[in-house]
Parts: sequence; structure tokens; C-alpha cells
Amino acid sequence: MKTALILGLLPVLVQSSQVLDWTHTGGRLMKRQNTGDGAQGDADSSQSELTERPAPRFPFPVTKFPVAKETVVLENTFYVPAGATFDGGMKRYERPEGSCNEQAEGTDADAVFNLLPGATIRNVIIGKHQSEGIHALGDAWVENVWWEDVCEDALTAKGLNTQLKVIGGGARNATDKIFQDNSLGGKYNITGFYADTFGSFYQSCGNCLNQAKRNATIQNVVAVDGIRMGIINPNYGDEFRLKNAQIDNVGIIVTKEIGNNVQTVPYHIGEGPDEKYALYNTTTDNIVEGFNGTVTNVYEPEDPYEWLEEFWPDGFWE
Ligand SMILES: *[C@@H]1O[C@H](CO)[C@@H](O)[C@H](O)[C@H]1NC(C)=O
Ligand SMILES: *[C@@H]1O[C@H](CO)[C@@H](O)[C@H](O)[C@H]1NC(C)=O
Ligand SMILES: *[C@@H]1O[C@H](CO)[C@@H](O)[C@H](O)[C@H]1NC(C)=O
Ligand SMILES: *[C@@H]1O[C@H](CO)[C@@H](O)[C@H](O)[C@H]1NC(C)=O
Ligand SMILES: *[C@@H]1O[C@H](CO)[C@@H](O)[C@H](O)[C@H]1NC(C)=O
Repeated sequence: MKTALILGLLPVLVQSSQVLDWTHTGGRLMKRQNTGDGAQGDADSSQSELTERPAPRFPFPVTKFPVAKETVVLENTFYVPAGATFDGGMKRYERPEGSCNEQAEGTDADAVFNLLPGATIRNVIIGKHQSEGIHALGDAWVENVWWEDVCEDALTAKGLNTQLKVIGGGARNATDKIFQDNSLGGKYNITGFYADTFGSFYQSCGNCLNQAKRNATIQNVVAVDGIRMGIINPNYGDEFRLKNAQIDNVGIIVTKEIGNNVQTVPYHIGEGPDEKYALYNTTTDNIVEGFNGTVTNVYEPEDPYEWLEEFWPDGFWE
């Protein structure tokens, strides 16, 4: 408990001005100095507040997947150090072929990336060979990350009071779920994401050994062909908010369950909005059913990465 608490506080203490990136040479990932090519740099140095960040340099929500030019196969999970930024330059990262096992809840060692507290992962494509996509072991930013074929989960929050901020990016073919919160008392803030074919967009763990209230805020997303946008545990006080969403062929917005901490199957209690847990109103929160390819609320950066368009040869939208 004590160690976890210290880890949880780290992002506040780290005043990192480090912006790292890595280059792939001869099968090994080498850390190299930031060369100031404009893709990363000084403006990103403050990570002490989850909300204090420069304006994103990529558009969202984008409804076309990027096309990778290069694939990096990671023999082992790649750890992004505490407070560091990993910029993947829109390369595809994955584990060796045959890594996906949908039957098993993966461990940290099954993930493509593990994020240590205060880490940022940005401009990354995660390929189909993986069991788990990203595990966040503490507060983290996940920006413009694309999952081409989700196996077990795309992004899992772990740790104590973990706050995750997801901006842009997308995920495809998540048979089970995209965003999983296994942390104790975590918060997810998801903005501008595109989800195509999924079981659950967000899930608050229904039977983790340590359970507490979790909070999810989801806005400005496009979600097509899914079972539900969220699963929450009202008995632990979970809060789920959804607004400015375009959804198409998604059966349920929220499923409510009585969760437990003894690893048994949670008990289903119902669906739909209420005044305490499932906090949305399809009318006033602008949750629109039906998507014809036109995104109604697009963020277009004033200063986009110069190289970004190369990875979307047919454009960002239909
Ligand atoms: C989607 O996932 C299923 C199950 O893992 C797999 O069999 C199928 O090939 C995937 N489809 C696409 C379009 O990626
Ligand atoms: C969630 O993130 C968005 C985008 O960065 C931000 O505008 C919003 O204020 C955040 N919401 C909360 C509750 O932190
Ligand atoms: C959950 O997040 C919302 C913002 O989206 C915030 O207004 C609310 O206070 C949060 N609840 C808790 C318990 O932190
Ligand atoms: C949603 O808001 C509208 C407009 O304020 C209201 O008429 C409606 O009853 C609300 N729906 C629910 C389920 O609360
Ligand atoms: C698609 O939907 C948007 C709003 O959701 C609307 O403005 C637009 O006219 C529609 N386009 C077509 C081709 O139906």
C-alpha cells in the first residue's frame, strides 16, 4: 500500500524537463537525444498537472486509421520511464506473432508498452500481434495512439488513483473492451477517440481484488458497431459521463453491475442514465445516434506535425 501511494504521488513531484525519444537500431531500441525536429520539445516539459499541456498537434476525432511505414517488433514489453515522453513517429509497434490470447487477462509483461507514472505515449500504432496494448502503472497521457486490432484490452489503468488522459487516436476490433480501469479509484478522461467494432468502450473492473469509486469522462468521440459505451459499478460509486458523441450501432450506453472484490462474476442490475452514476442525457449532452461519415465536432491543430499527413495518405476522414 505504501509503495503504491508513493508511486501515485510521483507525477506531482516529477518536474521533468526530459523529453526522450527512441530510435530503432539493429533490433535494439536506443535512447537518443531529442534533436529538436519540431515533433517534440521544450513546450512539453511540464507534466506536473494533467491538465496543463500545449495544444495537441494532431486532429481528432479522426475516422481513418493511419498507415504505418515501418513495424517494430518488441521481444519484451517496452517501459516508458516516469515523466518521459515516448514519441513513436507513427511507427507500428507489436510483439512477436502469436502473442494474442483472448482467453487470458494479460499481465504487464504481455503488454506492448507499460507506462510509468507521469509518462506520455504519443503518435504510436499498435499492431495486431499483442495480448495487451498499453498498461498504465500510474498517471499517463495517451495521445494519438491507434490500435489496429485489439486483443484483450487496448489500454488498462493500474495502480492507485491513476488518472489517464486519452486524446485522439482510435481502436478497431476490440472483441472484449478498449479502455479498462483496474486501478483503485482511477479516473479516465477520453477525448476525440474513434472506436470501430468493440465489446465495451470503457469498463470499470467488476471484480478486482481492490475496488473503489472510479470516474470516466468521455467526450467528442465517434463510436461505431459496439455492444456498449460503458460498464460501471454503482455499488462502489462509479461515475460515468458521456457527451458530444456520435454513435452508430452501439446497443447500450451504460450497463450497471454490482461489482465485487472476490473475483466472482458481477451481478447485472440494469442500463441507462440516472442521477448519480450514469451521468448523461442523450438530448442535452448531444449524444447522436447514427454516423454518416461526417464528424460534427473536429479539432484541427493550428500547428500540426509536418509529417503527420504522410501517414494518412487518403486523408483523415471519409
Ligand atoms: C478481429 O478479431 C478476431 C478475433 O481475434 C479475429 O479473428 C479477426 O481476424 C479480427 N478481424 C479484423 C478485421 O481484424
Ligand atoms: C478532459 O480532457 C479535455 C481535453 O484535454 C479537457 O478539455 C477537459 O477539461 C478534461 N476534463 C476533465 C474533467 O478533466
Ligand atoms: C468525476 O469527473 C467529473 C468531471 O468529468 C468531476 O466533475 C467529478 O467531480 C469527478 N468525480 C470525482 C468523485 O472525482
Ligand atoms: C434529458 O433532458 C431533457 C431536456 O432537459 C429532459 O426533457 C429529459 O427528461 C432528460 N432525460 C432524462 C432521461 O433525464
Ligand atoms: C451527415 O450528417 C451531418 C450531421 O450529422 C449532416 O450535416 C450532413 O448533411 C449529413 N451528410 C449526408 C451526406 O447525409
